[in-house]
Amino acid sequence: MKKILIINGPNLNLLGNREKTFYGDTTLEKIKSLCVKECIKNEIEMEFFQSNHEGELIEKIHSVENIYDGIIINPAAYTHTSIALLDALRATSKPKIEVHISNIYSREDYRRKSITSEAVNGIICGFGANGYLLAIEAMKKLIYNK
Ligand code: DQA
Repeated sequence: MKKILIINGPNLNLLGNREKTFYGDTTLEKIKSLCVKECIKNEIEMEFFQSNHEGELIEKIHSVENIYDGIIINPAAYTHTSIALLDALRATSKPKIEVHISNIYSREDYRRKSITSEAVNGIICGFGANGYLLAIEAMKKLIYNK
């Protein structure tokens, strides 16, 4: 069975309480359980990871090459700032999908540029927590080639 890694960046552990107008009231735990179900449905094994630390996110991405068949990542604020995350993503040959809960292109100017998306196959943003499930569906096509 194919295996994917779902990575979440800083402050996403606060979902449910944080800026609900942008991010809704779904907690990260709830998103994880929705992803577990979606992965079972799509015959994919999954690990779900969150960190508030750039270095930990980078090391997690480094682990992908030998273990996982694809990455779904919400880099959160590092989307807009981190060339280091971009480089780490570029260093893996596996398919990558970037997810944002909010529509980053409808928000502040500094959110309208995604540095990390230069390294990914595609982005899903603006669909709330459902974006993760859409990303799993898209990932299935990329990793199973169907
Ligand atoms: C986010 C959008 C980012 O701009 C923000 O810094 C986040 C969450 C989203 O999922 O909509 O923390 O990645």
